[in-house]
Amino acid sequence: MNKSIKVFAPATVANVVCGFDVLGFAVNEPGDEVIMRLTDKPGVSLLKITGDEGRLPLNPDKNTVSAIAKQYLAHIGRPDVGIEIELHKKMPIGSGLGSSSASTVAGLFAINTLFDSPLTNKELVPFAMKGEELACGYGHADNVAPALMGGFVLIRSYSPLDIISLPFPQDMHAAIVYPEVDVPTKDARQMIRSKVFLKDAVTQWGNVAGLVSGLFMNDYDLIGRSMTDVLVEPTRSILIPDFERLRGLAMEAGAIGFGISGSGPSVFALTKDAETAKQITQKLQQHLKNIAINSLAFVSEVNKKGPIILD
Ligand code: HSE
Repeated sequence: MNKSIKVFAPATVANVVCGFDVLGFAVNEPGDEVIMRLTDKPGVSLLKITGDEGRLPLNPDKNTVSAIAKQYLAHIGRPDVGIEIELHKKMPIGSGLGSSSASTVAGLFAINTLFDSPLTNKELVPFAMKGEELACGYGHADNVAPALMGGFVLIRSYSPLDIISLPFPQDMHAAIVYPEVDVPTKDARQMIRSKVFLKDAVTQWGNVAGLVSGLFMNDYDLIGRSMTDVLVEPTRSILIPDFERLRGLAMEAGAIGFGISGSGPSVFALTKDAETAKQITQKLQQHLKNIAINSLAFVSEVNKKGPIILD
């Protein structure tokens, strides 16, 4: 046995402002790469991780890629198989761009492909959710589902799991800026209130329904005015440097909507074209530079493919 594969899995923008834990979309970059080999020596070993500055566990039971690969092997009844894994992080950790999700999804897609794809990408979602649970204490699907399935997704229900692929305007782009301050998802989840007022819930579900309707109708105005979050953003935005100023700059530069990507600190804007998205990233990065914060920026259309085989 000597099969080997190299896979890329994309970053994702989860929540999409009003849809905490229920909406997300994939982007073309950044993302993570996993190299996986079948070997004759039984067991899952994690040979190396690059690009993580030593922050991720090399213990195969604690690292999401290897731990979930093990669970996958148990599920398909092949715990006897030997697997060697290399994880190459090509995106920042704790950025709000679904870093743990991209790694886990790359690993799952790799192992499923090595076994001739007995499961569909959608069927891999529950496994990837276990990776999120290991990484941040809660198995949310709004990063892993779009990373696996590509496109824009709605998690209509967690129990039972009901995931729906949504349409979206084909020219829609995302401008993403990552201010280099660390916000671990675990901490960003703990700071949110677990009880909400009914009037706020009414506002929120109106906006989620409006956003989904706007995606179906290709209605940018409706998408934009639905990108409002009265439940989570008021608390989490405190962790993001000059959040309201960044919003103002993005909206002035032509964004249709703006908010926190996942649990932050990355912020994103949706636009009608790549050029506007590029201008937004330049303005936000310039502002962050003025207040002495380094940043990374990405411009992407919605990724339609999900994970891909590189070699
Ligand atoms: N829905 C999750 C959260 C996404 O906001 O905590 C984390 O990237």
